[in-house]
Amino acid sequence: MKTKIIGTGYYVPETVVTNHDLERIMDTSDAWIVERTGIHERRFAKKTEETTTTMAYEASKRAIDNAGIAPEEIDFIIFATLSPDYFFPGCGVLLQRMLGLHKKEIGALDIRTQCTGFIYALSIADQFIRTGMYKTILVVGSEMHSMGLDMTTRGRAVSVIFGDGAGAVVVRASEDGSGILHTNLHANGEFAEELAMTCPGCHAGHYDGDPAKYGAENAGPFDAVFINETILKNALHYPYMNGQLVFKTAVVKFVETIMEALQSTGKTPSDIDMLIPHQANLRISKFIQKRMGLRDDQVWNNIQRYGNTTAASIPIALAEAVEAGAIQRGDLLCLAAFGSGFTWGSALLYY
Ligand code: UT7
Repeated sequence: MKTKIIGTGYYVPETVVTNHDLERIMDTSDAWIVERTGIHERRFAKKTEETTTTMAYEASKRAIDNAGIAPEEIDFIIFATLSPDYFFPGCGVLLQRMLGLHKKEIGALDIRTQCTGFIYALSIADQFIRTGMYKTILVVGSEMHSMGLDMTTRGRAVSVIFGDGAGAVVVRASEDGSGILHTNLHANGEFAEELAMTCPGCHAGHYDGDPAKYGAENAGPFDAVFINETILKNALHYPYMNGQLVFKTAVVKFVETIMEALQSTGKTPSDIDMLIPHQANLRISKFIQKRMGLRDDQVWNNIQRYGNTTAASIPIALAEAVEAGAIQRGDLLCLAAFGSGFTWGSALLYY
């Protein structure tokens, strides 16, 4: 018995933000962004109408329709995001409620492994399906980055890369030979702060030994250092990325995790019908493609149109490739991701 993807769906907000739009609000250029990242445009959600969960809901409805099942058949939800609606509770319960599944009181689990979130979520779903604990699981990745990016020149190295959107799959046990063959999950916490948003948080400078940076130098038991004026003044509530280190590590770890999946299942790169890498940077995807000796039609890239949507990028790309007819039932797919944590991993499956 294997875990099969029986439905896919994605949703991206209507508002298109081009590189030229960004040129108007910060010191950047279309040429720089295209050359360094491959991105031409991304989508930004409507702030008062959309959230990470509402986008996830749209993607989930489409995945459920595509699977040809009723929402009530879902007996567990796994939700990956780094940009949740609330600090807590997680988006899983909000999506459960929006889908009307709160009446069934099914479990809802949130995954916090950032760019690798969807791979972790899919792997967990696979374990639950194969043990027989659940029959039908909704696995979602959704991000609303536009809510928390520094859209000034100060934040340009990070903010030009990211976009909003959501993707979802429905998985179910299958005995027809198709389904997930392998997943591998990795992390190295040594690099936790190299791609991170550390505030608001509960550390008060514990890790970098600089409490004053967080307005916590004289903090007593009743002082708020979760979020305060010093944190805002120092712009610590925006994401930070050591871009070059992330880039250099990503190209190594992407290849390692894909090779691990292939070697564990006795496959070779030429067996892959479609590689769907997390859409981190087109240069990273092109590097992986070259190293693996893959043709253009064996790799799906859409970062040009959506930017980096973190946990949503793989399920958006998968659903889009299915919709475009670029993936057929029975194809061997490899999904792979690397990102904040650092975390990385891959999945190999017969679609
Ligand atoms: O999904 C999570 C994983 N994330 C990634 O995989 C991202 C990996 N990293 C990258 O993709 C690249 O490192 C970036 C695209 C983020 C940056 O490219 P880079 O070639 O590493 O550029 P850099 O950070 O070394 O910056 C080069 C120059 C700097 O100027 P100086 O110091 O050379 O004068 C930056 O200030 O480019 C400048 N710069 C920009 N210029 C125009 C940085 N951001 C921008 C910008 N527009 N948006």
